[in-house]
Amino acid sequence: MIEAPLRVAIAGAGMVARLHLDAARRAGARVVGVCASTPERGKAAAERFGLERSFDSAEELVTGDAADVVHICTPNASHFRLAELALRAGKHVVCEKPLATTGGEADALVELARGSGLIAAVPFVYRYHPMAAEARARVHGGFVGDVRLIHGHYLQDWLSEPGDNNWRVDPRQGGASRAFADIGSHWCDLVEWISGHRISALIAEAQTVLPVRYGSGRETFTGPDAGAGHGEAGGGTEVTTEDAVQVLFRTDRGASGTLTVSQVSPGRKNRLWLEIDGAGASLAFDQENPESLFAGSRAGNARLLRDSALLSPEAARLSVLPPGHPMGYADCFAGFVADVYAAIRAESSTGQDSAPAFPTFGDAARTVRLTEAVLRSARSRSWIEVPR
Ligand SMILES: NC(=O)c1ccc[n+]([C@@H]2O[C@H](COP(=O)([O-])OP(=O)(O)OC[C@H]3O[C@@H](n4cnc5c(N)ncnc54)[C@H](O)[C@@H]3O)[C@@H](O)[C@H]2O)c1
Repeated sequence: MIEAPLRVAIAGAGMVARLHLDAARRAGARVVGVCASTPERGKAAAERFGLERSFDSAEELVTGDAADVVHICTPNASHFRLAELALRAGKHVVCEKPLATTGGEADALVELARGSGLIAAVPFVYRYHPMAAEARARVHGGFVGDVRLIHGHYLQDWLSEPGDNNWRVDPRQGGASRAFADIGSHWCDLVEWISGHRISALIAEAQTVLPVRYGSGRETFTGPDAGAGHGEAGGGTEVTTEDAVQVLFRTDRGASGTLTVSQVSPGRKNRLWLEIDGAGASLAFDQENPESLFAGSRAGNARLLRDSALLSPEAARLSVLPPGHPMGYADCFAGFVADVYAAIRAESSTGQDSAPAFPTFGDAARTVRLTEAVLRSARSRSWIEVPR
């Protein structure tokens, strides 16, 4: 059993690394160091984050002796190799999504993790909004009745102009899919988790509305090291990854659904919205207003507020602030990381598999397979069966 605080190292120092850092600290871990795209950027990040050291490279960070757990928060194309190196070096791994840029690589990581006995988790953190957990509990408890329709969207606008650019646009760094892998994957993970249905077949239309981009990789969000790693400068860059995707799907339990994913919807910042319509009621969750759920029925509509006294046990567990004190995205990371670290401690003390509450490499591999199905369907303009 690990008695001392877990030792954590974070590869990458951009927007999401900062969330991992804060969540690790909230969970009582000792964050030993960080790295970025160059040793100099790594040093600057260590200072900015108040950390004792930086690593010259991500490879050194994930394989060295300094950490028990490594968080991989680098651009997508590096995830497979870094996660593989980390697992082979005996580290527990929190790897950002997408777990890999091909299904074969994602499946290989699932196998490697399974054989290692190590904890291997992926932050599909929207599951950690208490009201998303409440939606899941209600759907599983029969509140909506038989699920008939599942629909929604995930819309952003930060890549809607020709001058907007980022490493995600470049398939060598982001992978063959951009909008779907980046945000559509979150929607699918959340909707499958809430509904208990699996998307079994789909037909997709993908659009690249801006075939040339002129920016040199503006910062993704705020933060001095965000966006670093995008190589193009000046001139126009030809774009091959999709800006938007429309998906029509069927599920393994007889429902149908639609999903719109876009990074070019002006005014929409991070609008992940979903609705599940059953025989007796509907439930809708809006990530930008995560403190309530819409519950609709012919008998009347209601807005269910987050109040632990009225919530299911899992939603109440995640509800760490009193009602009326808004929780949000950073709290989701904190809840996720706390569960992962608890599982690491349990593993270390019992040597046995625990049933994880958090999304695993297996869940993440599924979203990589869904992404591949979307790209294949868009290319072939046909329905595709999604491998289970
Ligand atoms: N789970 C979520 O909700 C969520 C949210 C945002 C991003 N992400 C994922 O996190 C990852 C990072 O995204 P971001 O928004 O933080 O990007 P970002 O551009 O803000 O930061 C990327 C960081 O990686 C570093 N980097 C680049 N190449 C590197 C290398 N070879 N070695 C070490 N560091 C390197 C850069 O210096 C930078 O600090 C992506 O895979 C993204 O999909 C997940």
